[in-house]
Amino acid sequence: MIVLGIESSCDETAAALVDDRRRILAEELFSQLDEHKPYGGVVPEVAARAHLEHLGPLIEATMKKAGLGFADLDGIAATAGPGLIGGVIVGVTMAKAIAAVHKKPFYAVNHLEGHALSARLSDDVAFPYLLLLVSGGHCQLLVVEDIGSYRRLGATIDDAAGEAFDKAAKLLGLGYPGGPAIQRAAEAAKDPVLDLPRPMLGRPDCNFSFSGLKTALRQRVEALRPLSPETVANLAAGFEIAVTESVADRVKRAIAAAPGMTALVVAGGVAANARLRKRLAETAAKGNLPLVAPPIALCTDNAAMIAWTGIEHLKRGETSALDFAPRPRWPLDNDAPALRGAGVKA
Ligand code: KG4
Ligand code: ZN
Repeated sequence: MIVLGIESSCDETAAALVDDRRRILAEELFSQLDEHKPYGGVVPEVAARAHLEHLGPLIEATMKKAGLGFADLDGIAATAGPGLIGGVIVGVTMAKAIAAVHKKPFYAVNHLEGHALSARLSDDVAFPYLLLLVSGGHCQLLVVEDIGSYRRLGATIDDAAGEAFDKAAKLLGLGYPGGPAIQRAAEAAKDPVLDLPRPMLGRPDCNFSFSGLKTALRQRVEALRPLSPETVANLAAGFEIAVTESVADRVKRAIAAAPGMTALVVAGGVAANARLRKRLAETAAKGNLPLVAPPIALCTDNAAMIAWTGIEHLKRGETSALDFAPRPRWPLDNDAPALRGAGVKA
């Protein structure tokens, strides 16, 4: 089975061809970083226009690279939410058009399920596993019980982890995207600031919060202005350590709350953070679980995980109707209780 995957829910336009033997036959990705950089974050309308401009040629290039025609496909899968609706509509419409013209099945993929199943593409992880999803838009802990069966253990009550990195980088004058910039600056730290708060530490639930840490950092930045490069490095390292300790504590809770898991899987752009990866490996080992961290290109937004999610569903005979309406909000666990917080994103 060969499926074309399309991703366009945020600031990455991507297409990939994946087969059911877990091989990525070809993939193309256009990162819109330069388009959004002047604004210090993703501008939805700019993103939608860039997806529209780039997606067609990107799909063509992917097909050419693999030496395949649309007739060779067994299905087309596209991110249909959650995400920035303009971009999602571009990807879904393109997928539906290819499916309709070439009489192929279409599958509307939940982007979060794409992240959740990326470790099955990279490492063939067996169900059930514990998933930490930490990206710019999402921050949650889930039990992946089976395809289409998810139980949310906790999520952020305010900012997502990546969003916190991006805001912290802005405060420190480190530019966008913030995560890689903070990591780079932190590497030079001689004396990390260790007295920033560790949000939620010791709390019995598995939720996250980062807004208090961000406020503490802002106050510290204001008190220490003008910032020398050394101070920026020490604050960046302090921030990274505080996030890492907070996340590791939440994961420790989740491991205790969900016995019988085969692995701790981490996904999403923040999973690229070296300090966090190291700490999660320790946390997983203490809980007698292997840590599965897919390669960074599969952790950040990509189309291979979307194609793979399509394969997992199409293999079960599940398809989506061609009038499937994109969903800007689309939780994986419909039964999860609503969270109350400043700017809840689930
Ligand atoms: O998964 P992703 O590419 O896009 C979303 O779906 O959000 O994640 C992007 C996020 C950004 O907030 C970025 O700052 C963060 O992941 N990020 C990192 C690192 N690399 C990317 N955060 C911390 N450390 C990194 N090395
Ligand atoms: Zn994502």
